[in-house]
Amino acid sequence: MSAQLISGVDLSRQMRQRIKEQTALLQTKGVTPGLAVILVGEDPASQVYVRNKVKACEEVGFHSRLERHPAQLSEAELLERVAALNGDPGTHGILVQLPLPAHLNAQRVIEAISPDKDVDGFHVSSAGALMTGLPGFWPCTPHGCMKMLESIGYKLRGRHAVVIGRSNIVGKPMAMMLLQQDATVTLCHSATQDLASHVRQADVVVSAVGRRNVVTADMVKPGAVVIDVGMNRDDQGKLCGDVDFEGVRQVASYITPVPGGVGPMTITMLLDNTLQAAQRSLS
Ligand code: GUN
Repeated sequence: MSAQLISGVDLSRQMRQRIKEQTALLQTKGVTPGLAVILVGEDPASQVYVRNKVKACEEVGFHSRLERHPAQLSEAELLERVAALNGDPGTHGILVQLPLPAHLNAQRVIEAISPDKDVDGFHVSSAGALMTGLPGFWPCTPHGCMKMLESIGYKLRGRHAVVIGRSNIVGKPMAMMLLQQDATVTLCHSATQDLASHVRQADVVVSAVGRRNVVTADMVKPGAVVIDVGMNRDDQGKLCGDVDFEGVRQVASYITPVPGGVGPMTITMLLDNTLQAAQRSLS
């Protein structure tokens, strides 16, 4: 058996077309969604990510503003910028690109963002809303994974989902979203003993570790759905995920590729959150 691919590129194209249409409609009511992206320092990967986010905003008709600050920016100065954007009616979403330089306390900065503009979904108030099932912004990467499962008509109720990785950005919110859809969820992490025995039980596997070959074919139940959040480089410098794609695709029923899988969906869900923030500003 060879698994079917779930293309984040195709799904993103469809979703961004809808976002573009809804943006045009919102503009007839006098509102253009606006996203402010704050980048502190010169981290090369972060520079690529923020450029892609700003470009995606422009493509769907949003206003986007990229603020670049030197790595020496003080926390007080950064908090001042966040406060100014909180008060700016043309800015509906605020994103502070992580990681921040070590002298800045990322959680303190995130908590300074108004929850109404927290389109990353990283504020404790957004995390609490997800946990309790209240309305709020969901973190973009796990939300994109949920959309990919939805796109293949997958019903999670009663299924066993195994999430590998417990970060606040992906693993923990992913587990909450799967639970909300009535899956039985196992959250594995660096101290988990015998990872393979857990993964073998899974109908759905989500790997968000950031290391190559965490999931290999011998660990995957035949017919399982495998979602790969990893972004790594192989020995040739080529982009690859956490999953041994060539091996696992022989066993799984569906698999997401890297690149072209979860990556584009993360940005699509950021656009979706920003559109929602702009729509809510009207009501
Ligand atoms: N760094 C890596 N991924 C992300 C993300 O989704 N949002 C922010 N703000 N920083 C990141």
